[in-house]
Amino acid sequence: MRCLVFAGSRGIGKAIANKLTEISKKTFALSSKDCDTSKISNVDNIVAKYKNLDVIVLNTGGPPAKDFKNIKYNDWVKYFNQLFLFFVLFLQRVSINKNGYIFLISSLHVKEPNEKLILSNAYRIALVSVLKSLSIILRKKNISVINIAPGPTNTDRLNKLLKNNKSNIKALVKNLGVNNIPEATEIAEFVKLVVQKKLNSLNGQTVGFDMGINKFIF
Ligand SMILES: NC(=O)c1ccc[n+]([C@@H]2O[C@H](COP(=O)([O-])OP(=O)(O)OC[C@H]3O[C@@H](n4cnc5c(N)ncnc54)[C@H](OP(=O)(O)O)[C@@H]3O)[C@@H](O)[C@H]2O)c1
Repeated sequence: MRCLVFAGSRGIGKAIANKLTEISKKTFALSSKDCDTSKISNVDNIVAKYKNLDVIVLNTGGPPAKDFKNIKYNDWVKYFNQLFLFFVLFLQRVSINKNGYIFLISSLHVKEPNEKLILSNAYRIALVSVLKSLSIILRKKNISVINIAPGPTNTDRLNKLLKNNKSNIKALVKNLGVNNIPEATEIAEFVKLVVQKKLNSLNGQTVGFDMGINKFIF
């Protein structure tokens, strides 16, 4: 089994790569230096290097929080490439084996956009829409496409958004009405379970890891 994890050098991606390594020694974890997903010219190199994949984890760094008025033209273009176009072109060109899996690491805001994370929300929602269509196309090959929508998770990204300030973290926990901020290993355990147990009925689903913060029924 061959697994490829984008942005697998830290945080959620690294936790997933570590767990997948427990079931497949052919797990390849990429950092931003191995593959910066804002650079479309990297798509073909990665497709040529990693063939016949069984598990693909689409993940990348999250955009900065910015007020709508302060988002520059270059920000729109960079994060369109980084969060959306790179992965769409990659999925069009890559070879993925029958009975395989595609996971996306998106955000709880694909269900309810957040006004401070507009750059992130916009392109993630677009990609989730493409993946939903792909889940229908690829189910003939028994390939499952699953969107993982994390809420706050204890990683560098979250700590950066909270300015690495312990009282900001405490305030977040209090505001959310939860006991703690989950570790990335929770998501990683789930990915491992789905792959190891060959689960297929989650194809096309968005699975929230948000401790019930989103109040929607579905
Ligand atoms: N943590 C949360 O609370 C949370 C909640 C909702 C959504 N998310 C989203 O989940 C994803 C993973 O978040 P995380 O918390 O695991 O982040 P993280 O701890 O900050 O790790 C970021 C990872 O992304 C890689 N990366 C950064 N820029 C990249 C680029 N341009 N191209 C390719 N890889 C790049 C980094 O590689 P290097 O090691 O080379 O820098 C690193 O492996 C992000 O999109 C984030 O927005 C996170």
